[in-house]
Amino acid sequence: MGGTGGMGDMDGIGGIGEGHGNGRHDAGARRDEAVRAAVEQGIVGPRTPIIGLLDVAGIRATAAALRTAFDQVTPPGTPVLHAFAVKATPLVPVLRLLHTCGIGAEVASPGELALARAAGIPPDRTVLDSPAKTPAELREALALGIAVNADNPQELSRIDALVASAPTASPLGLRVNPGVGRGSIEALSTATATSKFGVALLDEGARAWVVRAYLDRPWLTRLHAHSGSQGLPLELMARGVATTYELAEEINAKAGRRQIDTIDIGGGLPVDFTTDDPTPAYGTYAQLLKREVPGLLDGRYGLVTEFGRSLLAKHGTVLARVEYAKSSGGRPIAVTHAGVQVATRTVYAPELWPLRIAAYDAKGRPKTGPDVIQDIAGPACFAGDLLATNRSLPRLEQGDHVAALDTGAYYFAHHYAYNSLARPGIYGFTAGAGAGRDADAASPGREVRFAVVRSPQTLDEIVAESGGAHAAALTDGI
Ligand SMILES: Cc1ncc(COP(=O)(O)O)c(C=O)c1O
Repeated sequence: MGGTGGMGDMDGIGGIGEGHGNGRHDAGARRDEAVRAAVEQGIVGPRTPIIGLLDVAGIRATAAALRTAFDQVTPPGTPVLHAFAVKATPLVPVLRLLHTCGIGAEVASPGELALARAAGIPPDRTVLDSPAKTPAELREALALGIAVNADNPQELSRIDALVASAPTASPLGLRVNPGVGRGSIEALSTATATSKFGVALLDEGARAWVVRAYLDRPWLTRLHAHSGSQGLPLELMARGVATTYELAEEINAKAGRRQIDTIDIGGGLPVDFTTDDPTPAYGTYAQLLKREVPGLLDGRYGLVTEFGRSLLAKHGTVLARVEYAKSSGGRPIAVTHAGVQVATRTVYAPELWPLRIAAYDAKGRPKTGPDVIQDIAGPACFAGDLLATNRSLPRLEQGDHVAALDTGAYYFAHHYAYNSLARPGIYGFTAGAGAGRDADAASPGREVRFAVVRSPQTLDEIVAESGGAHAAALTDGI
């Protein structure tokens, strides 16, 4: 039979029935409760065959863990802004929840800034990064007082002009590329020699240019680096931070004052997609920074962090019905409603982004029975639309459910509109303590409460977003 909670072991990325901390058991139990309640309450069903779920208690706990981890390595009173990378989960209610947990926002587009503002995140808890800011975006950010990190010399010139034209409350900085190298995923490695982000410190003359840029601009008070995301070893992340810190020290020494008062160390803490454990922990990374870059954390500098995936990934679940169970070439295939539209990276790059899949029965209970090797397919019309292949799970049948785990960041909130598949609804849940453990209670889902985070996309919306108002544009319009 399947592993703990009805989930089958994953091929190649580790089993999940091994020893885990309490956090793991709590998260798994809460998820099981939520799945069962979602089925019982009809939130997922024949007419809504796919939803996203967000575990509110898990998000709160991870936000608290982040704050505690850095509080423990900095003197009391050190200004620390944890700015959630909105790109990871661009959902207004999530940003609002994080805001109530003391977490701000890192935005990288006008859309993300609009989401942060809609969530009520104040300008002084918002940071704007991105490699292609227009003059209008920069002007708006400076007018609002949002922190801005310039990406390159041309952008800095634009900021020069804006600073000269009107006073601003925005803390201003420059992004550098510390050049410490790549992690296991090239596309997410931003500290390579030719990365498109920031001023590449290893380029000839670049470091001297950066120092001069600060000395010429007394208002340039921040320094920013983000060495990459998923796939970076912690040691490499720490080296990127250390390089940035040393540059700040050099600039401040040459300026003869603490001109740089805040260092933005970016995000990038990787997530372990094989377990419910939140590893590596924020505390592990903070302690590593304390060892490797003690001067950064001795209270002389304010800190900004920009974690995304590590805050949300573990707290999201895609839940989809098995529409058909078939077999092809001897391989059982569960045809579900979860595929490329909600798990784009996994479908196009399955070796880099394997997901754990949990099997549930038609009533939303963890599925039991002998494991068989099977494929979990999505609804899109191309052969590669597979959520998982060769997966050992209790044999899935029509009307069962599958859950794609760890999908709270960069998955279901990042819809890909292949086949005009609708964006699924997303629901936050809170599960009452112990609710799921009364497995045979008459209404085991009664203690689970759901809140709509995002409504499912309607067919009318799909038509409208696909030029419905301009149906005759190419025939009569020109
Ligand atoms: C500048 C910047 N900060 C933070 C992040 C968030 O990274 P992660 O979600 O891996 O923590 C990214 C990701 O692309 C980024 O580009």
